[in-house]
Amino acid sequence: MVVTENKIKESLSSITSEILNGTNYNRSEFARNILNYPAMMVPSVQEPIIKSLSETFKGEVSLFDPFMGASNTLVTGMKYGLNVFGQDINPLAVLLSKVKTRYYSKDELLISEDSIKSRIEKDTSIKKEVRFHNIDKWFKNDVQIELSRIHRAIKQESNVGIRQFLWVTLAEVIRLTSNDRTSTFKMHIRSKDDIENRNLSPIKYFFSILKRSIKDLNDFCSVLIDNELIKENKYVKDVDVVWGDSLKIINTEKSFDLLITSPPYGDNQTTVTYGQFSYLPLQWIPIKDIDDKISFEYLKTIQQIDSNSLGGKMLDDFSHKKENLFQKSRTVKLLFDTFNSEEQVKAKKVINFVHDLDKTIDNLLGKLNKGAYLVWTVGNRNVNKQVVQNDNILIDLLSSKKVELITDLERDILSKRMPGRNNFSNTMNKEKILIFKTTAN
Ligand SMILES: C[S@@+](CC[C@H](N)C(=O)[O-])C[C@H]1O[C@@H](n2cnc3c(N)ncnc32)[C@H](O)[C@@H]1O
Repeated sequence: MVVTENKIKESLSSITSEILNGTNYNRSEFARNILNYPAMMVPSVQEPIIKSLSETFKGEVSLFDPFMGASNTLVTGMKYGLNVFGQDINPLAVLLSKVKTRYYSKDELLISEDSIKSRIEKDTSIKKEVRFHNIDKWFKNDVQIELSRIHRAIKQESNVGIRQFLWVTLAEVIRLTSNDRTSTFKMHIRSKDDIENRNLSPIKYFFSILKRSIKDLNDFCSVLIDNELIKENKYVKDVDVVWGDSLKIINTEKSFDLLITSPPYGDNQTTVTYGQFSYLPLQWIPIKDIDDKISFEYLKTIQQIDSNSLGGKMLDDFSHKKENLFQKSRTVKLLFDTFNSEEQVKAKKVINFVHDLDKTIDNLLGKLNKGAYLVWTVGNRNVNKQVVQNDNILIDLLSSKKVELITDLERDILSKRMPGRNNFSNTMNKEKILIFKTTAN
């Protein structure tokens, strides 16, 4: 049966606002709670879209997310038996995604819980396992000692998949027990009084988060089992998540039918500082347990991940690249014209970001099959009291490459962990889901 574009539009437009706003979904079904990564997609939003689009293909369907973050899109694709591939520049996102897309049997998780508990309980050493610049600013002494006991116990685990799961658990403990405030994604030290008055036991946190995460992973794995997608303790289709800079290269030979993603909405420094959010946990996790291709350089400074992400670096040959971009997007040109000479630094940042996004899109299109669908969830933001219309910019850029919009949906952001309004933008209460299709021949 050939599914016409009208049928797809019809089926997508029947997705209710309740579903799009993610009010009624079961978080644990998608292992969404195991680490509180910033700006996670709401799986219930993706689910009906993935279901509807994947049904339009005959045979195997493959899904790709070049900015996978916490891999909620990939995990939703797995529920529908798709081949999935994801890439992200942030090592913490890669670690989390490896864990969420791997099948863990209930028994192996429970055995690992018992053995790590007994190793931690026996350890009375006060030796500290990790040193880095300013560690004493970010962690109290007794917190470092307990984190070191957990660290030693995880290192003794022989199975790398289990170690990865335990490192993710430790990452969540670090988020909650460091001296960094949890209210922002930027690194922001707590007040002196607050630090002194907090009496924290990372080991207690670890045990309770471990229990909750085992339940979450089991719930997700049960969904896969019920859908007959697990054989011989493995997901029956292809699943691969890698570390990589999507602006430079997509690290796979495969090609895809669906690209479903939510890109950053601007450079990380001024939008969501994914890198700063990940800096402290990454100091405690051995990089070779995440992906042996990751360069250690990425973890050396707090700014490194953010400045290597989309829009994080100033362009060479700015005027030429800017003019080139104006040819592709009238929305960018009109926006740029509103900035006066004192506002050029901000204007340049917007141009850098859109330039990087445009180059990344070229890389992505090279990996898509004919007739592939692209689903982009984007939000607009404010820079200098001007709205950066990421939705229209994306439509312009893709249209300049002959990829046309077929339909769009709008949702309120109710259940997404975004920075507070004041430090980001006041247009962040709505998100657009834009659906495009590449030509079929
Ligand atoms: C909005 S998040 C993605 C949310 C994700 N779809 C989810 O469901 O959780 C954007 C991600 O893009 C990543 N990113 C930014 N620049 C990148 C680049 N050049 N290459 C790959 N990933 C990048 C960030 O690290 C971040 O994890």
